[in-house]
Amino acid sequence: MHTGYWVAGTYRTGEKSFAVTSPWDGATAGTAYWATEADVERAVAAAHTCARRTASLPAHSRADALDHVRSRLRQRCEEFAELITAESGKPLFWSRVEVNRAVSTFGRAAEEARRWSGRMQRLDTEPGTEGRLALVRRVPRGPVLGISPFNFPLNLAVHKLAPALAVGAPIVLKPAPKTPLTVLRLGELLAETELPPGAWSVVPVADTKAAELVADPRLPVVSFTGSGPVGWGIRDSAPRKHVTLELGGNAAVYVHQDWTDTDYAAERIATFAMYQAGQSCVSVQRVFVHRELYEDVVPRLVKAVESQGSGDPRAEDTRVGPLIDREAAERVQHWVDEAVRAGARVLTGGLRHGSTYEPTVLTGVPPQEKVVSEEVFGPVMVVDPVESEQEAFERINDSRYGLQAGIFTRDVELAFRASSELEVGGVIVGDVPSFRADQMPYGGVKDSGVGREGVRAAMTDLTEERVTVLTGVLP
Ligand code: SIN
Repeated sequence: MHTGYWVAGTYRTGEKSFAVTSPWDGATAGTAYWATEADVERAVAAAHTCARRTASLPAHSRADALDHVRSRLRQRCEEFAELITAESGKPLFWSRVEVNRAVSTFGRAAEEARRWSGRMQRLDTEPGTEGRLALVRRVPRGPVLGISPFNFPLNLAVHKLAPALAVGAPIVLKPAPKTPLTVLRLGELLAETELPPGAWSVVPVADTKAAELVADPRLPVVSFTGSGPVGWGIRDSAPRKHVTLELGGNAAVYVHQDWTDTDYAAERIATFAMYQAGQSCVSVQRVFVHRELYEDVVPRLVKAVESQGSGDPRAEDTRVGPLIDREAAERVQHWVDEAVRAGARVLTGGLRHGSTYEPTVLTGVPPQEKVVSEEVFGPVMVVDPVESEQEAFERINDSRYGLQAGIFTRDVELAFRASSELEVGGVIVGDVPSFRADQMPYGGVKDSGVGREGVRAAMTDLTEERVTVLTGVLP
């Protein structure tokens, strides 16, 4: 694939192209152009200029555009999945899941665009305010700068594009330079809609130049998904902007002693510790198993991890592919080796082959080791026994991150205690922390970020309330 980029809905080519290569075998997945400075300026200026027009588009126009992209993406699912695999090394199985999720994200956004209304509030609650009534609408805060990551090249870009278009906020999207091809192709589908020019742009910009976009006052909203240092740097550099950050995590799961189907728990934990080589902010990293079940669960877990087919991401039965590049795999190797030197035991895996790291299970890792305390973003899990629910909660909370946690239990009271006591954005009961439905609010506390995505939550986040007070309308 050789592709240009999209400026205010128009296809453009630049002067300097760059190759996007597969982390699996180094094959060229395609080439793209860096957006020229003049084109970036055009994209931002167009977003700024058309903000009012986009905000006043009727709901049916916004919804129809989103519906159109949803159905075209569904028709071209396989082609998009293959492109995700080619540029990111994500196994085809998971790339298909991602495209289907993006279809659903557009679908939910179309539904919400039709539903997006506001509310009425009576104001005659105190003497002197008789006859007054407020209409409270949510209006876009302004044009959005979306910065999307490499690990879900399509769906995490769509989580920025679709809610913005649903509320009528123009958006300039900067895709991850390692994986820009899929969302550049998505531009073909957006260009088929009747959205006004300026409503959307997709511009490949080097990470080193992103600061200029972040600083631009014509983009008062920044929605970023990616690494913690970059995200918090954005927030610190733009304190007057509305900044949403979806950052990392070292997600934990607890298997309580009342959980009877240990095969199911092991299978789910293994799958979602290793899926897309652990490169998800909510992939399972820390596993706590109640002492009574520990001896039963661990061998099942190891077996389930060993059965996750690792290899060529284009093969139908591969579930674990390469990391995004060799440096990432070397970092994981370095962290695991450090943990082993500090006393950890490798139950399976523990070796690197080029940019691929073997699905790995560790135990007995000192808590200060990076594979526990930092975000591994690789196919590595650390498993430990705990004596009680209280200990599990304390260990889950013993992290500077807080995105999602999973609790395998049938005890509804425990589920509510978990929901109250765990310092996370979401608790998944009866499953892994990696579960995400695209319409649910999604985001973290502590170092995991600020703000929420998930279609409706993002629409709320991108807008602010505007009140219109009517006088003399209530008896
Ligand atoms: C993420 O890595 O934050 C996104 C996880 C997901 O959408 O499943």
